[in-house]
Amino acid sequence: MRDVKTFYIRTYGCQMNELDTEIMVGTLENRGLVRTADESVADLIILNTCSIRDLAERKALGKLGRLGKIKQNRPLIGVTGCMANAKKESLFQKVDSIDFVLGTNNIHDLNAVLDEVLITGKQSIKVDNRFEHELDYTIAKRDDPVKAHVSIIRGCDKFCTYCVVPYTRGPESSRHPDSIVEECQKLADKGYKELMLLGQNVNSYGKDKPEWGCLFHDLLYRLDKISGIQRIRFMTSHPVDITQSLMEAIRDLPSMCEFVHFPIQSGSDRILRKMHRLYTKQEYLEKVALLRHIVPEVSLGTDIIVGFPTETDEEFEETYQLLKEIEYSTAFLYSYSARKGTPAMRWKDDISEEVKKERLEKLMALQDEIYAKQRNTFLGKEVEVLVEEQNFRDDNLLKGRTRCWKNVLFPGDASLIGTLQKIRIHSFSNQTLIGEQIATPSSLALTAAL
Ligand code: 5AD
Ligand code: SF4
Repeated sequence: MRDVKTFYIRTYGCQMNELDTEIMVGTLENRGLVRTADESVADLIILNTCSIRDLAERKALGKLGRLGKIKQNRPLIGVTGCMANAKKESLFQKVDSIDFVLGTNNIHDLNAVLDEVLITGKQSIKVDNRFEHELDYTIAKRDDPVKAHVSIIRGCDKFCTYCVVPYTRGPESSRHPDSIVEECQKLADKGYKELMLLGQNVNSYGKDKPEWGCLFHDLLYRLDKISGIQRIRFMTSHPVDITQSLMEAIRDLPSMCEFVHFPIQSGSDRILRKMHRLYTKQEYLEKVALLRHIVPEVSLGTDIIVGFPTETDEEFEETYQLLKEIEYSTAFLYSYSARKGTPAMRWKDDISEEVKKERLEKLMALQDEIYAKQRNTFLGKEVEVLVEEQNFRDDNLLKGRTRCWKNVLFPGDASLIGTLQKIRIHSFSNQTLIGEQIATPSSLALTAAL
């Protein structure tokens, strides 16, 4: 049997993949393997892949192709994540040196698959279509000591016509609230201060299990009670499922951050219909207005796709105007990428790459103007920052985020990591706000005593 002592793991894509990587790292370390950052010395290499856009897949396939060329001391190679579900056995044909393929719903099978490969010397694959078990999240090896990702629901039932997720991750499957609360309590006991609740559509939480009587906002009320947790965020949500009860929870619960990722995707009703987004521009705007009424200080994030099949210049212009009107504090802007197996594949990908690029650049330039305008409003203001880490370029600087998800840098000592600090913003560099700590009454008393 091969001797496997070290492993290297690379993560592509979303935060759910990052969490799954943390679970795989914990699983492998528990069986005695040592993680290495140097892939050239690893006995096992795992690529935790993403299929959301063509570029993400091409990156991982390129990497696999290069790994496949290693002849001497060839490492074991495993492919996990969305590409495992999207391509299944065909991955073995593409790169014959892959040893195992493990789908997004099979992270708990990592040990079994690895054992099988080691014992039989044969390729192994496990790709279930749905997530239907409890994963042991307590084994996750978390790199971040302050913020923790917590999975609350997996899969997606929305079937937007451009998206592979319902096919790669399967139907929605909520995690039992008691299991979530228990994990979050343990995280709080370990000193974690911020929870990022994860799901492809967290607002669907609990709908697949009506017998639990716990919808997303009910879960938030339970999590808010955990002492020690200062901030709760969530990612990501579908506008259709953002309810008034959720908005009120954001207003009323002290730990809920005033930031909502509210992806519009397009500003044209015809394109929204073709995308199967289930709302009109008007309905979306009404929700935004209601949210801003209930939580006046809320910041919004969005995702937008340009160049969806048949999108006209006028329809793109509607998206442009909408971006201008809403003034999101965070916007992820993408060019449409045709994905195999999705309903949108039945339409010709008829917008040229050149036009897509032009539209994307136009939106990016607009969003940059919005960022610049918003940045200026922070100058001289006081913000609350949860200190996350030392700045990697200069360890005299600390890095953290505001409640509304803005990055902040300020001079300070590493002992402040994990604490909330009041910072006055005096300048910025690109998207990052820069400031100084505001002297608190206790620190002033200390200075006076010295
Ligand atoms: N092409 C481009 N962008 C896509 N997204 C999802 N599928 C595609 C695709 N086929 C974007 C959406 C989604 C985000 C996670 O990725 O904007 O909200
Ligand atoms: Fe994809 Fe739409 Fe589901 Fe989001 S809501 S994961 S975009 S199908």
